[in-house]
Amino acid sequence: MQNFDYMTPTRLIFGEDCIRKLPEVMRAIGKKVLLTYGGGSIKKIGLYDKVKELLAGFEIIELSGIQPNPKYDPSVLDGVKLCKEHDIEVILSVGGGSVLDCSKAIAAGAKYDGDPWDLISYKVKAQAALPIVDIITLAATGSEYDCGGVISRTETNDKIGYMDELLYPVVSFLDPKYTFTVPKNQTAAGCADAMNHIMEQYFCEDSTLLNDGFMEAGLKSLMINTKKCLENPEDYTARAEMMLVCTYGCNGIYSLGNSHSGWPCHGMEHALSAYYDITHGEGLAIITPHWMKHILSDKTVGRFVKYGVNVFGIDSNLDSFEIAEKAIQATYDYFKSIGIPMSLREVGIDESRIDEMAHHVAENEGLDNAWAPLTEKDIADIFRASL
Ligand code: NZQ
Ligand code: ZN
Repeated sequence: MQNFDYMTPTRLIFGEDCIRKLPEVMRAIGKKVLLTYGGGSIKKIGLYDKVKELLAGFEIIELSGIQPNPKYDPSVLDGVKLCKEHDIEVILSVGGGSVLDCSKAIAAGAKYDGDPWDLISYKVKAQAALPIVDIITLAATGSEYDCGGVISRTETNDKIGYMDELLYPVVSFLDPKYTFTVPKNQTAAGCADAMNHIMEQYFCEDSTLLNDGFMEAGLKSLMINTKKCLENPEDYTARAEMMLVCTYGCNGIYSLGNSHSGWPCHGMEHALSAYYDITHGEGLAIITPHWMKHILSDKTVGRFVKYGVNVFGIDSNLDSFEIAEKAIQATYDYFKSIGIPMSLREVGIDESRIDEMAHHVAENEGLDNAWAPLTEKDIADIFRASL
């Protein structure tokens, strides 16, 4: 087991109508609020009005229109400007992972005099950040319980995972009822994203029985509950369990003491979303089975056997490679069964920029140090197999 130094300082407030505690939470942090949200879903579900009602008496400035795969320009830059102009004391992010990720970059940029890209690109380490409170409305990213945000810069085709311990939300509100309206495609993409977060931690050199069990249960829970959510979007219990499994995804709790895997599928998918603005979870679902096939070897087969037997119930008496291949097929079949388009062409990606994207990933994501190292050629091969 590897050494670790771990803390997640975020307070989780979970359950039906939990946002009634919002005024009390916000009062302790600040009166001048930047309310951030996306393209309008929070208005359709009545959450915007509810927040405004709960925060009557607070001074609220709004930043709306934050897009999926949130953009540095205009959203992060506009948010930083608003914070500085209005001496904002706290950011309240209401929406999915994109709104929250953007809010994290704004929180750091608001306390920095230079170009916020210096922080996102790790040229400069943030010295301070505004506090963030969030109401998460989509089960997927785990941004509500981690210190990362993923920001896209269109003109350079960059999509950077920006992490800093200053960016943990102070409080995250999780009411599963606010996820009832998440459309089927986003529900499925959220499941694929969260499953991949677990797999990125599962497929590594050094793991423990404890972590393996936790992660295998997480994967099974996601698969079962996502199907229930798709069948009945208002199944509170299924939405609730899905939400909590997703929340654990990215803050390291699944893999304390594990060796690092290098998060290869995320490294590759960030290029797909950056170049083509596709839905992150769909990109992951498409490439994951091809990544698995590509790295299957004598060195890696043992992990696939464990995954296949414990997650999919494949017969442990079969030959190791047969189990691994069945497990990879089962992964593909599951994603397909929840309605995810399972080829790059189906999401509008063709051959034309594959080499360019593979080069970008090889240069920027450090996948030559992954558990199963990937060269630029490996990355291009995986993309091509995913077409
Ligand atoms: O913009 P609005 O109108 O709010 O609509 C959103 C958006 O169109 C909609 N939506 C959200 N909640 C809804 C809803 N529609 C109806 N009812 C609701 N309750 O769903 C669409 C997608 O929203 P988005 O926030 O983009 O989805 P998600 O939460 O999956 O976030 C994806 C982003 O998170 C990043 C991804 O790269 C991607 O940019 N990630 C962040 C991570 C992190 N911070 O730790 C880790 C992940 O690996 C991931 O990379
Ligand atoms: Zn992800």
